[in-house]
Order: sequence, then structure tokens, then C-alpha cells
Amino acid sequence: MTKVFVLNGPNLGRLGTRQPEVYGAVTYAQLAEHVAATGEGLGLDVDVRQTDHEGQMIEWLHEAADADAWVVINAGAWTHYSYAVADAAALVNYVEVHISNVYAREEFRHHSVLSAGAKGVIVGCGVGGYDLALAHIAAR
Ligand code: DQA
Repeated sequence: MTKVFVLNGPNLGRLGTRQPEVYGAVTYAQLAEHVAATGEGLGLDVDVRQTDHEGQMIEWLHEAADADAWVVINAGAWTHYSYAVADAAALVNYVEVHISNVYAREEFRHHSVLSAGAKGVIVGCGVGGYDLALAHIAAR
């Protein structure tokens, strides 16, 4: 069974109340439950996590590398500047997801330090972007 870590970065635990006009009304708990169910339906072994701590994210990426797991990552704002997260992500196969269309937002969100190393990038599809990422991994 393909193992997939679905890793969420800073402030994503606030989904549901954080800028619902941008990120929608689905809470993080609902997202985590939904993503786990999608993974199960696709025959994937999915582990969904969220952290506001960069070192924790890096350690989870190391753990994914050691487990030979795929990663779906929404690195939140780290996407735009964290070379440390990008270096750790380079150890695994990953699909980058953003709930919002970052290209329709502030200039600083237009650049991702993760995209060049990603196997795929899904932007602006809402929380359904996680389903698309899992479907892509399951189809490989
Ligand atoms: C985000 C977009 C980032 O710019 C932002 O910092 C986030 C969420 C998204 O899912 O749309 O925290 O990654």
C-alpha cells in the first residue's frame, strides 16, 4: 500500500475561521477527516498532519523520506521563502497544494520555493485540491 503523508503548515489549523472568503468554510478537522476518507477510497495509507513549527515540518519530511512515503504538502507561507522546508522536501516525492489561487493574490505569494522540485502543483481548487493530489499519486 502506498504511504502518503499529507502535511499542512502554519495557520492551516485555523481553516474554517481564517479568512473564509479566501479559504472557505471547511474546518481543519473536517479537511483532515475528508482527506483521510479520500485516501482510503483510493487505497492509499494516508497520514494527515498540521504544524505551525518549521522544524516539526522538516522532521516530518525526514520521516516521510525514511518511510519511502509520498507527500502532499501545503506549506502555507513557508512555500514562499523557506529554503529549509524546500531542502527537506527534496528528499521525497511530493505534490504541492494551495487551497487559494496564489497567483490572484499578493505578489509575494506568486513565487514558490517548492514548485521546481514538485511532481505536481495544484493551486486554487479549494480543499478539493488535496483530493486531486491523492488521485494523482494513486494513479501513478
Ligand atoms: C496557502 C497560500 C499561502 O500563500 C498562505 O500563506 C497559506 C495558505 C493556500 O493553501 O492557499 O497559508 O498555502
